[in-house]
Amino acid sequence: MPQFLRLLSPERGCGAVGQSPGLPPPRPRIGNGGNRGRGRGGRRGRSHGGGYVLGARLGTRVQPDGPSSSAAGILRAQRAAITMLCRAACSSSRNLVPALGVLGSRQKHTLPDLPYDYGALEPHINAQIMQLHHSKHHAAYVNNLNVVEEKYQEALKKGDVTAQVALQPALKFNGGGHINHSIFWTNLSPNGGGEPKGELLEAIKRDFGSFEKFKEKLTAVSVGVQGSGWGWLGFNKEQGRLQIAACSNQDPLQGTTGLVPLLGIDVWEHAYYLQYKNVRPDYLKAIWNVINWENVTERYAACKK
Ligand SMILES: [Fe+2]
Repeated sequence: MPQFLRLLSPERGCGAVGQSPGLPPPRPRIGNGGNRGRGRGGRRGRSHGGGYVLGARLGTRVQPDGPSSSAAGILRAQRAAITMLCRAACSSSRNLVPALGVLGSRQKHTLPDLPYDYGALEPHINAQIMQLHHSKHHAAYVNNLNVVEEKYQEALKKGDVTAQVALQPALKFNGGGHINHSIFWTNLSPNGGGEPKGELLEAIKRDFGSFEKFKEKLTAVSVGVQGSGWGWLGFNKEQGRLQIAACSNQDPLQGTTGLVPLLGIDVWEHAYYLQYKNVRPDYLKAIWNVINWENVTERYAACKK
């Protein structure tokens, strides 16, 4: 059963009345109610509004034998009706959210388009690398992230904390892979290279001494990543300054260090091996020719607001 139907299922509701939008409000049926519309099992089978259920319950409790007992019965019926209406309201407000499709549906992540052609960064990064990197590697992170999130949602729904904990490494890896590559593509441009201008350049000079020193440091940190990972220029919001960092695997910069990512350099072999083989420093030397400083500057301006 789809989740939103399960959430709408009477067994889950508070009081399980399941009042549907648009149906007339429940009307107490005093006397002669019998069991009409009650459904089997008391709490089950009450998906057609609260009126019959309410009437059936009141009907079984109130038997108007005479005027006084009838008046007392009416009072009891009114109290019971208020209780049931409160339950109905509680149930309706709970069910309203999935009925509107907020909790019952989830947006799937999708592979973002590159803002340029696969061959646009040549000769610095060739088309074959870009095509595989984007359409295979990044796509795999996106697909796996969607699968993991689906399982995580199931675990949350069941209250299975063990399963939630077991899924966290996969969430970090694939979620990080999606976040990192989405930033990386925009950090590159066929019209890139050179130096940043304005406020960003001033901040680089302030925090690293000069643009050349910054470039040397980020190159050294990126080349020095052991195994697979990323070199980053990030912004430390607490200290109000730029920082260089290295992350392993697909660890997302902000999620693991708190730094806001401005410029990421992917140093996984899939980012350069087909063109530069095992010589990572040559790839680092080349990538500075396609850095999109406009994008980095926009990110810097945005995180300072
Ligand atoms: Fe990558």
